[in-house]
Amino acid sequence: MTAPACSVQCLDTLDDAQIDELAGVLLDCVEGGASVSFMQPLTRERAVSFWRRVADGVAAGERALIVAADAAGVCGTVQLVLAQPENQPHRADLAKMLVHRRARRQGLGAALLRAAESTARERGLTLLVLDAVTGGDAARLYERLGWLRVGDIPGYALMPQGGLCSTTVYYRNLHR
Ligand SMILES: CC(C)(COP(=O)(O)OP(=O)(O)OC[C@H]1O[C@@H](n2cnc3c(N)ncnc32)[C@H](O)[C@@H]1OP(=O)(O)O)[C@@H](O)C(=O)NCCC(=O)NCCS
Repeated sequence: MTAPACSVQCLDTLDDAQIDELAGVLLDCVEGGASVSFMQPLTRERAVSFWRRVADGVAAGERALIVAADAAGVCGTVQLVLAQPENQPHRADLAKMLVHRRARRQGLGAALLRAAESTARERGLTLLVLDAVTGGDAARLYERLGWLRVGDIPGYALMPQGGLCSTTVYYRNLHR
């Protein structure tokens, strides 16, 4: 499934305008209550600073960054964390799957996930790992696209407005 009104591509560099738009997507997701490492209220300054660090990681080859854009600009993104211990060169962590609320429920999350899996395969990776809030929108997406559930960790993280939530760990074997 692809999201027809969006372009999805893997970026090697980020300019200031793209960093600002990615910050806008992160702000929208945190404001909407998504548990993605940040607490409310998240300031634009902190969001921009997060994406500047991501841009440095992309430039250093430590991360692969996939970005989706619609007519209004960046509307979704996902990352592969490629920098792993030397005994795990075959795997990456999938992180920061974010779709702006304006672009949800049109297949963009699925398109980003497939693009991340393709990027991992192109790089010769054979295993992806992620964690997601137990029973949330993202967990359903990963299970629908064939990710296998390892188990739940109760009380793993705080929701952005406070209150502990359980996390579910998933993996995807790219040989299949
Ligand atoms: C999780 C997230 C990335 C999903 O993004 P999305 O673009 O809405 O994902 P999709 O459109 O592929 O799928 C979402 C739903 O829309 C449905 N859908 C997809 N295309 C559709 C269409 N054309 N018409 C109607 N429904 C559609 C899917 O079946 C799915 O349904 P479900 O939630 O009942 O299972 C998004 O909700 C998000 O960014 N959440 C906040 C951040 C977050 O929690 N990230 C995860 C970190 S682990």
